[in-house]
Amino acid sequence: VSAADAAAAAAAAAAAAASAAESLSLAEASRWPLPPKFGVETPRLAELSDLFDSGLDQWGVDIFLVDELACHKPLSAVVYAIFEKRDFFNKFHIHPAVLVNYFSQVEQHYKQENPYHNAIHAADVTQSTHVLLNAPSIANVFTELEILASIFACAIHDVNHPGVTNQFLINTESELAIMYNDMSVLENHHCAVAFKLLQEPSSNLFASFDDIQRRQLRKMVIDMVLATDMSKHMSLLADLKTMVETKKVSGGCLLKLDNYSEKMQIMQNMVHCADLSNPAKPLPLSTHWVTRVMEEFFNQGDREKALGLPVSPMCCRETANVEKSQVSFIDFIVHPLWEAWTELVHPDAEHILNTLEQNRDHYCELSAAK
Ligand code: CMP
Ligand code: MG
Ligand code: ZN
Repeated sequence: VSAADAAAAAAAAAAAAASAAESLSLAEASRWPLPPKFGVETPRLAELSDLFDSGLDQWGVDIFLVDELACHKPLSAVVYAIFEKRDFFNKFHIHPAVLVNYFSQVEQHYKQENPYHNAIHAADVTQSTHVLLNAPSIANVFTELEILASIFACAIHDVNHPGVTNQFLINTESELAIMYNDMSVLENHHCAVAFKLLQEPSSNLFASFDDIQRRQLRKMVIDMVLATDMSKHMSLLADLKTMVETKKVSGGCLLKLDNYSEKMQIMQNMVHCADLSNPAKPLPLSTHWVTRVMEEFFNQGDREKALGLPVSPMCCRETANVEKSQVSFIDFIVHPLWEAWTELVHPDAEHILNTLEQNRDHYCELSAAK
């Protein structure tokens, strides 16, 4: 027997053992009791249920209220509710208990002490994408696997975020920056943590998938999460604009997307839009997010000062002009993106763009009054 044959045999044996372990856990899981409704133990289940009935499919559901009603497991609750609504438990043979196991792990790996990059933000981005996917103009564009991948990508897209930016991690020669050679450091880490957690058999959501499905899903999730790196924003937006100009079917109903790369560009932009959706939410939610994101930036600024590093933009709590920086952030980053998305799915996102513009004017008035 050649060395190559021996290696191949060992690999096959390992694969067989792995798949036996997986099917074992599936069989085992099917005997597990069903988790509580929405996957969380809460004394306020009726209120949570009402909130999801009225708000799960709505732009601007009060995600902070979801957090409260779900006993600070907003991500588990939102993902569970979306899986139920989209019938993913049945369609993908995922046992609800496995979903609960996996997302309680993911939820624990989001840092509660981060004012912004915590499980509430993940729940917000996930629910926002769920709403964007419901736009009539893209209703039949994506396969169920692509929809699952988008929801999953959003849920894990900032997991274990340390509350500081890529640039900070690079400047301080952090472990993570060394690990990922300064390239999309955080986004690589979010993906790696999420896929690592899937390796625990009792949390393996995709145990019943065949290799092809699993590989496709993994590729899509990685492609979407890596595209949330803000340094990719300009090229992502350029692709979206090109697509809007060349691909929109007149009369505005169905988009003809015929290859992986084009579909993926849309999915990446959709997740990126959801990630940058806090300025486009009803004003009370939007201002709440601004307070949180600025607090996280200021904490980073404090650390930069303590380390003798130059303070990053928007990160100095003494000199920052919060309202003015919101106007700039909207004008240069968020509005161009949402403008292109709104055109793509015309007229389904018109109300979102309007809210964004109203919020922008609100921040502009506040900064002028200062
Ligand atoms: P992240 O969620 O990883 O990706 C998008 C980034 O945009 C986010 O981190 C913040 O750094 C930034 N961001 C999101 N919302 C705001 C906001 N309202 N003001 C300033 N920056 C923001
Ligand atoms: Mg991120
Ligand atoms: Zn994010």
